[in-house]
Amino acid sequence: MDAPAYLDSSLTTADRVADLVSRMTLPEKVGQMMQLNSKDGVTGLIEDFHVGSILHTSPAAMVEADTAVRGSRLRIPLLVGEDCIHGHSFFEGAEIYPTQLGLAATWDRDLVQRIARATAVEVSATGIHWTFSPVLCITRDLRWGRVSETFGEDPYLIGELASAMVAGYQGDGLDDPTAILATAKHFAGYSETQGGRDASEADLSRRKLRSWFLPPFERVAREGCRTFMLGYQGIDGTPITVNDWLLNDVLRGEWGYAGTLITDWDNVGNLVREQRMFPDYATAAAAAVNAGNDMIMATPAFFDGAQEAVARGLLPEERIDEAVGRILTLKFDLGLFENPRLPDADRQREVIGQDAHRALGLEASRRSLVLLENDGLLPLDTGEGAPPRRIAVVGPNAHDAQTQLGDWAGSSGQADWLPHGQPRDMILTTVDGLREQVPDGWEVTYERGAEIGTTGPDPEGETFADGQPRPHIMNAAEPDADQIAAAVAASQGADAVVAVLGDRIELIGEGRSTATLELLGGQVALLDALVETATPVILVVLASKPHVLPPSAERASAIIWAANPGMHGGQAIAELILGAIEPSGRLPLSWPRHVGQQPTYYNQIDAQHGHRYADLTQEPRWVFGEGRSFTTVEYSDLQLLAPGDDDVVRAHVTLANTGSRPALETVQVYVRDEVTSATWADRELKAHRQVTLAPGETRAVELELPLAACSIVNAEGERVIEPGTFTMLVGPSSRLRDLLSVRFRIG
Ligand code: NOJ
Repeated sequence: MDAPAYLDSSLTTADRVADLVSRMTLPEKVGQMMQLNSKDGVTGLIEDFHVGSILHTSPAAMVEADTAVRGSRLRIPLLVGEDCIHGHSFFEGAEIYPTQLGLAATWDRDLVQRIARATAVEVSATGIHWTFSPVLCITRDLRWGRVSETFGEDPYLIGELASAMVAGYQGDGLDDPTAILATAKHFAGYSETQGGRDASEADLSRRKLRSWFLPPFERVAREGCRTFMLGYQGIDGTPITVNDWLLNDVLRGEWGYAGTLITDWDNVGNLVREQRMFPDYATAAAAAVNAGNDMIMATPAFFDGAQEAVARGLLPEERIDEAVGRILTLKFDLGLFENPRLPDADRQREVIGQDAHRALGLEASRRSLVLLENDGLLPLDTGEGAPPRRIAVVGPNAHDAQTQLGDWAGSSGQADWLPHGQPRDMILTTVDGLREQVPDGWEVTYERGAEIGTTGPDPEGETFADGQPRPHIMNAAEPDADQIAAAVAASQGADAVVAVLGDRIELIGEGRSTATLELLGGQVALLDALVETATPVILVVLASKPHVLPPSAERASAIIWAANPGMHGGQAIAELILGAIEPSGRLPLSWPRHVGQQPTYYNQIDAQHGHRYADLTQEPRWVFGEGRSFTTVEYSDLQLLAPGDDDVVRAHVTLANTGSRPALETVQVYVRDEVTSATWADRELKAHRQVTLAPGETRAVELELPLAACSIVNAEGERVIEPGTFTMLVGPSSRLRDLLSVRFRIG
C-alpha cells in the first residue's frame, strides 16, 4: 500500500495538512489541540488524549513520549514546549543568562539576539521545539511578581528586544535544525494589574491597548513570530480567551497573523471556574475555539468538552480543522515528520554549556549590571603600588548560587527534575567572583549577616481551584543580632564592605506578587548597622526587580543593581567593583522611592496638579534610562540634518568622554508631540544608539528617527501622525534635565 500523502515531503505543507486532517477522527483532532503537563507521565497523554503537545517534560519523559508516539495510529510527532526563558532553564548544565529584565538593562539588540540563538542551539538538541519566550508585557506596577520576565516599561525598547529575541530563536527559518518556535506572550494587557496582583482583571481601554500594550506584539506578529500565547486576564468584562476583538479583528485581521495561538495554563478551566462565564466545559471549549485559540494548555477536560460541543452543535468541526491545521503546519514546517528532532546525546555533549555560550553568558552578566550611585569609591584601586586590601562581603544574596539565577531556572519550582538547581560549579556568586578576581595579597571574608525569610504553606490551602499547587508564602525573618554583629565585626577594619541584598525566588514569579517593595527580613537592619561603621559600603541590590531602599542606602558609597545576573553574575559584579570592566547597564524601568508611588513608569500622561504627593515627590529614585559609567560623557550640539527623501528625521549630537575611562554610552532619543488631539505622554523613547568612546574622545553621533514613530493614538483609537511641531530630546536618560532638545515639523 502507498504511504499516505502527508508523509510525502515533496508535497506542500498545505497539501500535507489537508491530507492528514482528512484522516483524523474527532478525538484525534481534539487531542491534537491539547498541550498537557508531562509531570505524571506521558504515555497516558498520548494513548488516552492523543495530545498534540506536551510541556514540562523531563529528559527521561522525552524517551517515553517517543515510544508512545511510535505506537500511535497516525504517528503524529509531538510538539514539545518549554519555558526556556533566559537560557535552557531546566536543562542541567545549560547556560543560564540574566533574566529578561537583566538583558533589557543592556539595551543591546544584537546581544539579545545572540543569546536567543545560543539558547536555541542548546534547546534544539534536547527534543524541545518550542520556547514560551519572549514576554512582551509592559511592566506597570512593580509589585507584580513577573516583572523580571519582562523587558521593562517602555514599548519601544520591548519591541526592539523582543524582535531580536524572536529572530534569535527562529534563526534562518524552521528548516534550520537549530531553530525553535518563539512565543510572543502574554497577549495582551496581562501586566496591567490591580495593585500588582497576578492575573487580576486588567482595567484597559482599547485605545490604551493600542497606545502602549499592542505595538510590541504587532511588530513581532508582522515579523513572523510563529506562536502567540494569551495571558489570564479579563478586560472590560471579556476574558482574554474569548476576546474576539483582540484575537480576530486585531491579531489575525489587522496584523495578518497566520501563526498559532495557544492559551495560557488552563484558561478554559478558568472560563468555567473563576470567570464563571460558562456553565460547563462544552460551552467553554466551544467559546475558546470559536474565538480563535488553536492549542489549549493544561485543560484535560477540554478533551470531552470539545467533543460534546461538536455533538451539541456549539462548535463547527471546520473550526477544529482550522486549529489543527495551524498546529500541524508548525510540525510540517519544522520537518518533524521526517525528523522528530528527538534528544540527541552526542549533540548535547557538544553544545550544552559550550565555551562560546559560557563566554556569551559572561558578556551578558557584565552588560546587565547598572551602576546607580558612585561617590568615587569605585572602581577600587588595584593598580601596581596599591596596598593590599581586605574586603568584607556580607548579605543573604552574596553567596547563594541558585537565588542568583532568579525565576525560571533550575530550582525555581516549575520543573521537578532538578531538585538542587543548576550545577553549583557553573555559578559564580559575588563571594566566588571576588575571591577569584582580587589581586594577590588581598583578603576576602564572608558573613551572611541576615536572612530574608522562611516559607510556609499558604493558610488558604495547598492548591488553587485548578489543582495547581499554591506557592508557599514568605514569612519575613526578624533581624538576628548575632548575625549582624558578626557582619559588623567583619566590616570593621576592612577597606570596603560589599553588601549583597535583594529578594529570593519565593518572592518572585507567577502568583508571587509582593505587597511591599522593601528589602525583607533582617536586611535593612544589617545595612543600617553597616553604614554606622567607618568602612565604605558598596551596596549590590541583587534582586529580580527594583526595590525601595532604606534611608541608610543613601550613605552607601556605591549602589549596583544586578537583576538576577545569570551564572557569571558574581564574576561580573567583582569585575565591576575592581574596575576590570566598565559599567554600562541602563535602567529599563523606573526605580521608586516608596511603594506608594506605584506605578512609576516614565511615560505617564501629565496631570494639572504637578509632580508631588503632599508627603513625597512623585519622582522615582532613579529614572528610566539612567545608569552611570566610571567616566563622564557630555552631550552638546544637537542639530537637525537636512532632510533626505526618505521618511526619517536625522540629527547629530556631539558626545565627549571627559573622564579617564572608556565608556559604552546609550544615547536615547525621545519624542514629544507638542500639540495632540488626545492626551498623550510628554515624551516617549523612539530610538537609541550605543556608542563606545575612548577616554578624552569627542565624536559626532548621527541619530535617525523614523517619521512613523512620531505617532499618537487619537480619540477614535487610530494610530496617526498629526502634522505640527515635534521636539526631539536626546540624552543619557529619560530625565528632562538630562536631555538636549531640538524642534522639527511634520507638515
Ligand atoms: C503559565 C505562564 O503564565 C506562562 O508564561 C508559561 O509559559 C506557562 N505557564 C507554561 O509554563
